[in-house]
Amino acid sequence: MRTEQSKTIYLKDYRAPDYLIDETHLTFELFEDHTLVHAQLVMRRNPELSAELPVLSLDGQQLELLRITLDDRELTAADYQLSDSHLTLQPTQASFVIDSTVRIHPESNTALEGLYKSSGMFCTQCEAEGFRKITYYLDRPDVMSKFTTTVSGDKQKYPILLSNGNPIASGSEEGGRHWATWEDPFKKPAYLFALVAGDLWCVEDKFTTLSSREVTLRIYVEPENIDKVQHAMDSLKKSMKWDEEVYGREYDLDIFMIVAVNDFNMGAMENKGLNIFNSSCVLARAETATDAAHQRVEAVVAHEYFHNWSGNRVTCRDWFQLSLKEGFTVFRDAEFSADMNSRTVKRIEDVAYLRTHQFAEDAGPMAHPVRPDAYMEISNFYTLTIYEKGSEVLRMIHTLLGNQAFRKGSDLYFERHDGQAVTCDDFVKAMEDASGIDLTQFKRWYTQAGTPRLAVSEAFDATARTYTLNFTQSCPATPGQSDKLPFVIPVELGLLDARGNDLPLRLQGEAAASGTSRVLSVTEAQQSFTFVDIAEQPLPSLLRGFSAPVKLSFPYDRDQLMFLMQHDSDGFNRWEAGQQLSVQVLQELIGQQQRGEALVLDQRLVTALRSLLQDGRLDQAMVAEMLSLPGEAYLTEISEVADVEAIHGAREFARQQLAEALFEPLWQRYQANREVSKGTPYVAEAEHFARRSLQNIALSYLMLTGKPEVLAATLEQYEACDNMTERLTALAVLVNSPFEAERGKALEAFAEHFKDNALVMDQWFSVQAASTLPGGLQRVQALMQHPAFTLKNPNKVRALIGAFAGQNLVNFHLADGSGYRFLADQVITLNALNPQIASRLLAPLTRWRKYAAARQALMKAELERILASGELSADVYEVVSKSLA
Ligand code: SER
Ligand code: ZN
Repeated sequence: MRTEQSKTIYLKDYRAPDYLIDETHLTFELFEDHTLVHAQLVMRRNPELSAELPVLSLDGQQLELLRITLDDRELTAADYQLSDSHLTLQPTQASFVIDSTVRIHPESNTALEGLYKSSGMFCTQCEAEGFRKITYYLDRPDVMSKFTTTVSGDKQKYPILLSNGNPIASGSEEGGRHWATWEDPFKKPAYLFALVAGDLWCVEDKFTTLSSREVTLRIYVEPENIDKVQHAMDSLKKSMKWDEEVYGREYDLDIFMIVAVNDFNMGAMENKGLNIFNSSCVLARAETATDAAHQRVEAVVAHEYFHNWSGNRVTCRDWFQLSLKEGFTVFRDAEFSADMNSRTVKRIEDVAYLRTHQFAEDAGPMAHPVRPDAYMEISNFYTLTIYEKGSEVLRMIHTLLGNQAFRKGSDLYFERHDGQAVTCDDFVKAMEDASGIDLTQFKRWYTQAGTPRLAVSEAFDATARTYTLNFTQSCPATPGQSDKLPFVIPVELGLLDARGNDLPLRLQGEAAASGTSRVLSVTEAQQSFTFVDIAEQPLPSLLRGFSAPVKLSFPYDRDQLMFLMQHDSDGFNRWEAGQQLSVQVLQELIGQQQRGEALVLDQRLVTALRSLLQDGRLDQAMVAEMLSLPGEAYLTEISEVADVEAIHGAREFARQQLAEALFEPLWQRYQANREVSKGTPYVAEAEHFARRSLQNIALSYLMLTGKPEVLAATLEQYEACDNMTERLTALAVLVNSPFEAERGKALEAFAEHFKDNALVMDQWFSVQAASTLPGGLQRVQALMQHPAFTLKNPNKVRALIGAFAGQNLVNFHLADGSGYRFLADQVITLNALNPQIASRLLAPLTRWRKYAAARQALMKAELERILASGELSADVYEVVSKSLA
């Protein structure tokens, strides 16, 4: 709790560290009611600074100092100053050794930062600033040190003792204890430190690297989960191979370990050689994890593995540079997933997510640039902007440079900065040096917050046979940034003729046409491009593949969108045309609802979706994506003032109408796919994901008709399927259906069957939390009393409370404010238990500006109540105070 310390930290105040730590030797003695940490730090004055010796200020929080020596001299309280956050002392020589012993309490650490216990095992999470809760240290990423770590604990309770690097020694002690020593040969910042001790089993495998070194791979889990790690192991081996092939990056230690932990604030953590994962991002098998969960495991395993180079070998100089490692690594894992599965579907999913959630962040009170200038609590900056928009920035560099130059740039970056802590500027410099392309203006993507808008208009001149596209870019003001300079916006585009073929593209001034899909760089506030040799009025296909994270507008009419849906050679833009058509149709319905008129669905949407369903040649995953109407959260994001009831009513009306009008083709596709699923054992591969996704979205539409044959099919699928994807869909369909008896029975049977599987129970909570039937808040409150629920487990909080506030918009935004009151109560309770989770949970309340006056007042009142509720963590204080500002 540190409201009084909630000071803002600025990038402009960055200074190199006064002292360095060459070696760090740690010994942990683990006990049930406390842990002793001995730290020997071999330090010296930073040689790049003056010879003077300033005061040394070590970070440390919640530590009980038992003993400290400076070069073997025992220090007394007169020799140093202790505060809640620092230990300061005056070194007398340029090189010295500090030895300290502290007592800490992992057994009562509910914040899950530093060393803590989860399901009886010891584990750590040190990023960003958790190491200071383990020992006194220079806890900043530009202090890189060689670590050796000895862990000692009870042999029975903690047979497995792990840390970073390679194991070098182990032995037994008296009293039933044992110890192990690990040595990490690579210098690293403290945030990459890890320790694990527990009763764990592992699956082991081998990987032979490019240069024929053999690496041992181990995934450690609690014994009952040993049957759920094969998918993660396969994903790891694919990631290692992919990083060698695509980036030329090889693994560098003899052993690579992953440990699954049940209580974890984030998805996973890339600690050197010892990745620690939220169990939801490792465990997967057909019976207990959905297709989406399988894909998430593959992506997160890859992400953390890729950090070994983009993050660990080359790390961040300070936390303002977080996107240096996260944006780059998300881009790397997205490309990996695209290569392993369907590229277009992956892109569609990522863009839908970005536009719904990151664009909302960009438009809200916490909007910040990809490289922020200031923060109060760095944990609040593990955001969609740093990760997802950061990845889009990398994708644009890749688009502007082309694959070959980009690879040259990444090679240069890794070679030039191996073993260093660097900045986003260093990364861009490597890309410029390798490609010869000037990225000065492009770097505004790192420093300016907000989502740029790009308005496009056209002019066709039949006599001159020219076609001109006029671009106007702007970017709304964001906190602290009222005026923005033009961005470099790469716009990939094509021009379609009346038959839907791509025209050859030749810009005015060019000698000959080249290509049918090209990238134009829009760099000015207003800019026009003229194509020549255009005989007839073309239809533009703009921002193919979503080549820049902007809001593009072009005055398409609905017939043109239907044409693009059918003919665009770019798969992403076929989907995008469908989304734009749906948005137009839904916005029309929202207007009708607001004016109290009868709702009338534009039949063109029915026609467009019918032709997709009837075309057996199309990729089934694409058909499923195109059948999914834009979500309520996205419709909220693009509204000036979001009308919760009208959005929900309009979308549900459209779904109902589509279900009835398209019953026949949906039913056919459903039955055909269910037949194949019945006869095929579960496979976690793209083609199978595709079949199930179409089957499942068809079922969710079909159930809206309430026909008895659909109920029977749902129950058949629920009971007879062999995998969680089909089972959970059937459950969700029942939960949202009017069939009360069947719903209750299925929920009960599901909980009984899976009561011992925490991850499956998370899904059971989520399905109910997201049900938009009336009475949602009461259901969630009742579920909080369920024996499987606890506020101490972040996955449970996300599954129930997070899903309710984030996905169940009609119930969360009840006009009487009861949903807001409920969320604020949970935030207040969690603030004391786990500040990081409390602060993340708050996000829906911070979006009050999106709503009409009555809701604004209710939401603000709850934010005020949180602010007045007592001692707030820096995490919660920062988000609440900024969103009220
Ligand atoms: N650095 C982690 C990750 O994004 C977050 O803890 O992988
Ligand atoms: Zn990461």
